[in-house]
This record gives sequence, structure tokens and C-alpha cells, in this order.
Amino acid sequence: MSDAPPIRVEGLNHSYGKGELKKQILFDVAVEINKGEIVIVTGPSGSGKTTMLTLVGALRSAQEGTVKILGHELLNAKAATLEKVRRQIGFIFQQHNLLGALSAVQNVELGIRASGKYPRSEHRERAMNMLAAVGLGERIHHKPEQLSGGQRQRVAIARALVSEPAMLLADEPTASLDKESGREVVERMKVLAKEHGTTILLVTHDNRILDIADRIVHLEDGCLTTFTDSVIANNKHMMEMLANNRKKQPLDDVVDELDEIQFTELLQDITEESERFLEVTALANNIAFKSMLDRGLFAFNRKLAGLLNAERSSLFLVDGDELVLKVAENLEEMGEIRFPVGAGIAGAVAEGGESIRIEDAYADPRFNRAVDKQTGFRTRSILCLPVKNMSGEVFAVAQLLNRKDGKPFSVDDERRFSSFMQSIGVILETQQGLGGSN
Ligand SMILES: Nc1ncnc2c1ncn2[C@@H]1O[C@H](COP(=O)(O)OP(=O)(O)OP(=O)(O)O)[C@@H](O)[C@H]1O
Ligand SMILES: [Mg+2]
Repeated sequence: MSDAPPIRVEGLNHSYGKGELKKQILFDVAVEINKGEIVIVTGPSGSGKTTMLTLVGALRSAQEGTVKILGHELLNAKAATLEKVRRQIGFIFQQHNLLGALSAVQNVELGIRASGKYPRSEHRERAMNMLAAVGLGERIHHKPEQLSGGQRQRVAIARALVSEPAMLLADEPTASLDKESGREVVERMKVLAKEHGTTILLVTHDNRILDIADRIVHLEDGCLTTFTDSVIANNKHMMEMLANNRKKQPLDDVVDELDEIQFTELLQDITEESERFLEVTALANNIAFKSMLDRGLFAFNRKLAGLLNAERSSLFLVDGDELVLKVAENLEEMGEIRFPVGAGIAGAVAEGGESIRIEDAYADPRFNRAVDKQTGFRTRSILCLPVKNMSGEVFAVAQLLNRKDGKPFSVDDERRFSSFMQSIGVILETQQGLGGSN
């Protein structure tokens, strides 16, 4: 085959039904996928993902546009051509479509036979090896009905991968698998793509596997969006997920309404998501994700002040040998606040790496009154913490000012503040990792 991309779709429209019932599902879809590339399709239920996959897989006749697969044009193609293309593709469907009368190993052997790639004498051994590879070595003679949903899914995966096909089309392959087996399956796909040049188009809602993609495209209402748009959509999806079981409101409002336990849970969610998304979004220049995190930081900051009963909460970033105020309630009005590491309480925390609690700021010689002058605020009590990165260096400083009841911040305040800041620190680090503007 030439160097032409194994998948080239252009101007693809698709409708179901006829006459008055006719409903267009795909609109002007265009995508090109290279040999060995893994592309993930995300998008809401009903957006047309499976439809697109079946068109690319020659399982459904294309009505309009160009669908060039493995060198063959599928639009108006003869049945024999469609058949020829299908033989070179491994399919994993949303429903696994195993044959109930056959055992696991026989189902997998079918996959080999369909490819026409290997001599008959090798079928059994290849099928057994593949089943072992997906963790089903002990169950090769079980019928589908004797297997759990996840195990059946793995048989289907083994059947699709066993002949090392030129192309793999997978529809929610990890949907019924736990985290670990889902991971194993996608890692296996990755090997296939990178070592055998298998081109993989994979539909998923599973955020845990997005990182294996070379590219993520997003289908919404039948329209395939560009990568940047899909990143935005992914972030939107992520925000919606975070707001799950909560009301669908802007993050700021959501955060305002949470109690301490809910807030802690949200922080844990967002921390995990940040880490996961960081891997995925490292593929792109993530303006959208960054701005989401930015907004998150401001919302969290305000929330923290509320939870810890402080008048002010602020976050400084270490920038070389200076500290710069990054997050505060009225940051824009205050103008840029910068001072050397070592100066003031925050500076002392940045330098020493230890938290500081102060009952009366003006009585402490380390306190820098100039900042109060600039902001017009009158500081009384202070609780100031270092935020360390994974290598243990202080990269930010978090500060609470003036406990509202006039008492000094307690050891318990310090403990709570510090546990929140561990999560927020990850978010902050993610945000910085994406190329902070400071
Ligand atoms: N054979 C069919 N006949 C008529 N309408 C269909 C047919 N198959 C799918 N549809 C409709 O086309 C739309 C897209 O369906 P499709 O299965 O492609 O969505 P999807 O993105 O895969 O959704 P999900 O994430 O739920 O699997 C849906 O509105 C669906 O009802
Ligand atoms: Mg589907």
C-alpha cells in the first residue's frame, strides 16, 4: 500500500430513515488518520460516533462524501470491495457480538479465520496466546454465557486483535472493564499501533484512557470538531463531570454552595482529573484548560477564606527570586504585587519552607507594611503556608489574613488549610505546567 493515510474521510453526510422520517446524523465529517496513529472519538450519546465507525469499517454503505479506507473508496463500492476492506479490520463493538454456541477460544479463532492471514495449523495456538494476553488463559473453553460481562468484552478484544489487523475500530472497548484491565487492553492496543503500524480509531467515554491517543476528535450533533475545539469540549465535559450530582452551574457557584466535605471531595476529583488531563492535554496548547484552572483557583481561594473563617485568602507564586501575587479576591484593582523572596511573611515562608502563624502582624518585625499600604487592607492575624511541588521545592505560598472572630489562627486551622492546599497545589502546578502567564 502507498503512504496514503489508511483513513481519509471527507464531506461525509449520513442520514437514517426515508421521506418525512429522514434524519441527518452526520454533517460534513472530515478526518484523516495516518498509519499507526491512535485517534479517540469522544462526544455525547447519540452524536453519531457508532454511525461514523460503522461507515469507516465498511459495515454500512456511505451515502455521500469520500470514505477512503486502506486505499479503497467505499462510496458506491462493490460488495466484494467492502468485504475485502472488512477483512483487514479488527472490530470491537459496544455489544461484543460473540457467538454463544462457541467457546472463548473458538470465538477468537473466528477472528483469525476471517482475516485469512494465517495457516489453519496456527489458529488454535494464536487464539490461546491472545486470550492469555488479555488475562483469560484459564477460561478458554468457557462459553460466553459462562463469562462475566467484562470477560466477554475481553474475548471480543482478543478476537479483534488476534490477527494483528491493519486497522482497529473499537466502540467503547473498556466500558465494562475495571480500571486495571481497561488499562491493560489499551496498552496492548498501543503496542499494536506503535509496533505493527495498526491504525486505531476508538470511541470512548472513558477519560482514564484518553492519554493513549495521539489525537482526540470530538463529535457533537453529527459534526466533528477540530482538535482545539475538542480540547475545549473535553474540558467542558470534565467540568460537567465534576459538577455531576451537583447542579449544572458555573464552577464558581458550585464551589460556593459546598460544605467542607463536599469541597474536599471536589478537590480530590479535580486533582485526579488534572493529573489525567495533564497527560492528554500535554498534546495541545491548552488555553481552555488553563483558563478553566485559573477560574477554579479563584473560586477555591474564595471558598477557602470562607471555610477557614478568614477575611482574605491569597496565593503567591515563586518567580525566580521574587514572589508575585497570583490569586486574590480583588487582584485586578490592586495592581501587580511583587516582592523578593525573604521579604515579608510570605517571603519568609517561601525561603524557610515552614508555615508561619502570627497573632499580631504589626508587632512582628518580618511583616511588610508596604503591602497593606498598597492594598488598603489592615492585616491583623496571618496564617501562611508553603506549597511544594513534587520535588519538595516551594513554588507557591498560600496565605490567610484576619480570622473573622478576631482570634489568632489555630493549629487546627493550619492543619485544614494545609490539607486543602495539597490539592490546590496540584492544580496550581498543572496550571503552571501548561505555561502560566507569569
Ligand atoms: N439504524 C438506525 N436507524 C435509525 N436511526 C439510527 C440508527 N442507528 C442510529 N440511529 C440514530 O442515530 C443517532 C446517532 O446514533 P449513534 O449510535 O451513531 O450514536 P453514538 O454517538 O454512538 O451514541 P452512544 O454514545 O450512545 O453509543 C442517534 O440519534 C440514533 O438514534
Ligand atoms: Mg455508540
